Amino acid sequence: MILRITFICAVKGLGLIPGVVGRFDSSNGLRVPHIGWNALQTTKDTEILDDVGGRHVYFVHSYRVMPSDANNEWISSICNYGDSFISSITRGNVHAVQFHPEKSGDVGISILKKFLDPSSSSKTKKSAIGKASRLAKRVIACLDVRANDKGDLVVTKGDQYDVREQSNEKEVRNLGKPVDLAGQYYKDGADEVSFLNITGFRDFPLGDLPMLQILRYTSENVFVPLTVGGGIRDFTDGNGRYYSSLEVASEYFRSGADKISIGSDAVYAAEEYLRTGVKTRKTSLEQISRVYGNQAVVVSIDPRRVYVRSPDDVEFKTIKVSSPGPSGEEYAWYQCTVNGGREVRPIGAFELAKAVEELGAGEILLNCIDCDGQGDGFDIDLIKLVSDAVMIPVIASSGAGAVEHFSEVFEKTNASAALAAGIFHRKEVPILSVKQHLLQNGIEVRVCAEH
Ligand SMILES: *[C@@H]1O[C@H](CO)[C@@H](O)[C@H](O)[C@H]1NC(C)=O
Ligand SMILES: *[C@@H]1O[C@H](CO)[C@@H](O)[C@H](O)[C@H]1NC(C)=O
Repeated sequence: MILRITFICAVKGLGLIPGVVGRFDSSNGLRVPHIGWNALQTTKDTEILDDVGGRHVYFVHSYRVMPSDANNEWISSICNYGDSFISSITRGNVHAVQFHPEKSGDVGISILKKFLDPSSSSKTKKSAIGKASRLAKRVIACLDVRANDKGDLVVTKGDQYDVREQSNEKEVRNLGKPVDLAGQYYKDGADEVSFLNITGFRDFPLGDLPMLQILRYTSENVFVPLTVGGGIRDFTDGNGRYYSSLEVASEYFRSGADKISIGSDAVYAAEEYLRTGVKTRKTSLEQISRVYGNQAVVVSIDPRRVYVRSPDDVEFKTIKVSSPGPSGEEYAWYQCTVNGGREVRPIGAFELAKAVEELGAGEILLNCIDCDGQGDGFDIDLIKLVSDAVMIPVIASSGAGAVEHFSEVFEKTNASAALAAGIFHRKEVPILSVKQHLLQNGIEVRVCAEH
């Protein structure tokens, strides 16, 4: 009903293309924003889309135009998310797309090339029409970046949040250079790359943050979405200059980030919101989401499992665990932490997820301290709990050690994506094997042309 009223009051637009722009309907379980990869079905013989039919391209949006008799002659491709929607239009040599070609890997780059130079299209052969697909599950490579003791930027990965080697004079584990590694993962078929700054606080001026260089160089060659997290909060540099978290985020976006991820700051914001019931509109989460849209804001949660005998023992949402705790406890809740897992907070992952969704988060990155670095699989109980609690996409993280763990998390939970770090860096499980395994198990994923 409310939707109808919105449409009646809707802005008229230029009236060039007949049709109505409306929000995706999340009432029947559809996650909004629509974030990720769908295959296109081409409906018109155009040069720039001649070999795109059936291939996956990257979408990130909450509103779409539906195909109708009135706009039929404009449509050059359609896609499916809940219902059919228009993914591109063409009229003469005017083209418009709903997806992001600059973030759609090799397929997107080929579209842009043909747009600039139509003679490069293979127009002699018949266009692939393809079939509009459901949303593919995403496989994300995560790079924890910090400076080692020599001052070089390295990608590192610790067991359970400890990045130092036990032997080797406690040096920071060096698992490769961030830009090179991101480029490699892109070629290997990663659907997204996340950079996480895990260095402690130092008083650099904002413009000198090495992560900005990493983003600039990476975005020259990596054409999938980039997320950056760590240190997105208000701060004052060594010269006494103050930066708001919004300024920090803006600098990351300008340097090539598509999304920023907020950790500790979002926990405090959620606690405050649950205590007062008031949206202050001043938290970094709310500010960045208001200016850049909720699809640009990921909230990263680091919970740890706390076993209890009965759900009445805590005020937070508990689950009946699939395997009992050390003293035979049958229930657990997931307590949120801040500062890289060092400090626990009086809020559960379930409560936090719901609160940050209301405050404007567009996606949740769900880690798990108990599983991180263990290689025993994702915490299915936790991921099911959180992905069923919210209508925004949830990225499962922590614990992947084998290809089967990826199919398990997609079969048993509503996670939209799965993220891993150590197993990719140590080349134990290649991204391509993960994708092949998911395909064999009937789970839709994006496949790159080279493979
Ligand atoms: C990470 O953030 C800290 C400040 O919070 C900064 O000193 C450090 O240079 C950052 N690292 C990168 C790679 O940007
Ligand atoms: C996904 O969510 C729906 C509710 O929206 C729930 O009924 C279903 O069991 C969930 N699926 C999985 C695999 O957890």
